[in-house]
Formats: sequence, structure tokens, C-alpha cells
Amino acid sequence: MTADAGLLAQLLPYDPFDPAFISDPYPTYRKLREESPILRTPAGLWALTGFEDCSAVLRDPRFGWGDGATVADHFNTAEDGSVVRPFIFADPPEHTRIRTLVSKAFAARRVDRMRDRALELAHELVGAAAGGTADLMTAVAHPLPALLLGELMAVEPEHEPRFRQLTSDIARGLDPSFFLTPEEIAKRDNGRRELREYFATLVEARRGKPGDDLVSSLVAAEEAGDRLTEFEILVTCTLLLGAGYATTVNLIGNGMLALLRAPDQLEWLRANRDAIPGAVEEMMRFDAPVQVVSRTALAEAEIGGTTFQPGEQLMLLLGAANRDPALFENPEELRVARPASRNIAFGLGIHFCVGAPVARLAAQAAVTALLDHDLALAGEPGRVPNVVMRGLAELPVEIGG
Ligand code: HEM
Repeated sequence: MTADAGLLAQLLPYDPFDPAFISDPYPTYRKLREESPILRTPAGLWALTGFEDCSAVLRDPRFGWGDGATVADHFNTAEDGSVVRPFIFADPPEHTRIRTLVSKAFAARRVDRMRDRALELAHELVGAAAGGTADLMTAVAHPLPALLLGELMAVEPEHEPRFRQLTSDIARGLDPSFFLTPEEIAKRDNGRRELREYFATLVEARRGKPGDDLVSSLVAAEEAGDRLTEFEILVTCTLLLGAGYATTVNLIGNGMLALLRAPDQLEWLRANRDAIPGAVEEMMRFDAPVQVVSRTALAEAEIGGTTFQPGEQLMLLLGAANRDPALFENPEELRVARPASRNIAFGLGIHFCVGAPVARLAAQAAVTALLDHDLALAGEPGRVPNVVMRGLAELPVEIGG
């Protein structure tokens, strides 16, 4: 428990630290949706649980961040006093400018080239854990995205352990500060600072000797068009890790747990490897790594019969939206062959996850490598209490040799 229970009850329509909710939030989401797909908490926050309503808000320019008061903890102040928002928390045109550059750096060609490397790493990690009981989080779900992101960001192999620690420190800090302990806030802020310093040395090195990595691309884009300042590059690199690491870890963990709990689905997938990409989408729908995204109404706007006033805060419960029976038949079941498992686990609209191709290929590689082995749950997994992220603390699995 990290936040005041009374405050939470005013703020949210559920208690995110209730052990029953942490273990399975979906019955609560269903109840909320049945009560009203758009409801207001005593503190005046809106909670949306319907797929179409959440999608409509994400696509609508009348919703955004505005002055960013609710996420100001994530803003960064440069030495000259200028404030840089990570672009995930920025509105157009500031958002558009940085997003365009970053999208270029994520060129399909570069991501495609990572596919073979992801499979190679996944086979190595799974192979090392096979032949006994292992914690799948420690053995595969954490190291695979850390190693892949490390390579994408040109991290030197000798810096990999420290990089992994810092990446993990900033992940917890994605929750709003009032959910965090002072220690967690300090870890997040120190982690961010040290990562920015680390990226400063990488940017310096890549300026003289560009490589085939994302940091080099951001540097090149900056020099060609004089568009990103050095500080913006550092903030962007840190955001990519903050947004990309724990999420991918949790996709692998949540997805594999769902599959292990549905052995018929696991066996079907083993016999139908071509269906792995679709199965990963279904895993993400079934137990979304990012449960909530927020928006502020920037103008008066009507969605699903409710009119929102400027300044009002909205919580879009993506995990709930992905189980909306209006969209999905038997939404509470994992069905890896579900036709076109359209879901909003990566968001939608202008902020749609820029790292989705990387996350997908990491998860697909992990599932592919794991399906080469007999697999069985070897205990009850524990969850990490977190409001925004949904993930496992450990996942004990018997992995055949
Ligand atoms: C399974 C893994 C992942 C999930 C579930 C996920 C989820 C999301 C979601 C829901 C958003 C939208 C946030 C909003 O609208 O407020 C988002 C945006 C973003 N994601 Fe991901 N993400 C994942 C992996 C990654 C990876 C691997 C990276 C980077 C390498 C990444 C970087 C970003 C960035 C930078 C944004 C902000 C985009 C923008 O504002 O234009 N994510 N992600």
C-alpha cells in the first residue's frame, strides 16, 4: 500500500491495491461497465470502460494533455531552465515534431532486422532455463526486452547490467506520484537523471561515429534539420525505455500466464506456429500490460452521450475496453485463433505506441522459443501492485529440457 486509502476511494472507482483486484481486475471492470460505461468518481474524475468510447476519446483532438498538470512530475528541466515534456505527454504541434523524428528512427527496416536477433536471444535464454523449474520473469521476460532495447539504443555490453537496473527503476515510476512512496519517487528521478547522463555519453560517441542504432538516427535527424536539441534527445531516449521496457516484460509474462492457464490453447498454438503473431495480439487483449491511459478535455466535447467540460480528467481503462462484450465474443476467454483480435492495448490515434513493432517481435520470439519445450505452471504467480501497469512479480514454470 503506497497511497492514502481514503484519497483513493475518492479518486478512483476501484481500489487498485486491493489484493483481489490486483489478482483479477476484470470482474470489477465488468461491474463498472454494467453500472455505466462512463462514470464519475467522487473526486470528479471520469472512468471509461467501453471499447468504442475509449477509442473515440483517443482519436479526438479535443482531448489531450493541456497544461499537463497531472503529469508534470514527468517533465524535465534543462540546464538553461527550459522544460521538456516526454512526447507521450505532449500535444500537437510539440508532439508531432518529436514523434515524426522518432517514427523515422523506428523505420520498419531496422525493426525487421531485429527479428532474427530476437529469436536468437529468446532461444538462448529459454535454453539456459530449460530442464527444470524456472522463474520465467527472471529467465526470459525481463532479459529479452532489456537486451533488445539495449541493442536498439547502442548500449555497450559492459554497461548492460547498470542500464537494466536503471530501466527497471524508472518503470515503477510510471504511476502518478501520489501512488508512489518517497523511495520509489527518488529511485525514479535518480534513474531518469543517470540514464540521461548515460545517453549524453552515447550521443557524444555517436556524433563522431554513427552506427545503425536509434540513438544515431536521432542524432542524424537533429543535425540534418536542426530540430531536436540534445536535451530533447536525452529525454526521448529515456522515455523510450520508460515506456518500452516494463510493458514488453509484462506482455511476455501476462501472455504466457494466460496461455499456461489455457492448455488447449497452448497445444493448439504449438501445432499452429503461423498463428503466433495473432496469438500475441490476443494475449495483449486478454491481459493488457497498460491498464489505464489518461486524457484531459481541452474543449467541451460529447462522447457516448456524456458531455465533458474543459479541464476535466478522463481515465480510459484499456484493460476493461479490451474485454467489452460489444466487441468480443466471450471476452473473458483467451482464444489465440480469435479472428483479428483488434484491441487497444497499444492505444490509438496520434499517441499510438511507437514501439509496437519492437514489442510484438520480442513477444513473438519469446513465445516461439518457449513452445519448443514442454511447459507447465509450477506455482501461483505473484503480481506487482501498480495502477498503470499490470504485470507479474514472478512466474514459476516447469520447462522441459
Ligand atoms: C507490450 C508492450 C507495449 C505496450 C502494451 C505499450 C503500450 C502503449 C500505449 C497504451 C501507449 C499510448 C499511451 C497514450 O495514449 O497515452 C503507448 C505509447 C508509447 N509507447 Fe508503447 N507500449 C509497449 C511497448 C513499447 C516499446 C517497446 C516502446 C519503445 C521502444 C514504446 C514506446 C512508446 C512511446 C514512446 C509512446 C508514446 C507515443 C506518442 O505519444 O506518440 N512502447 N504505448
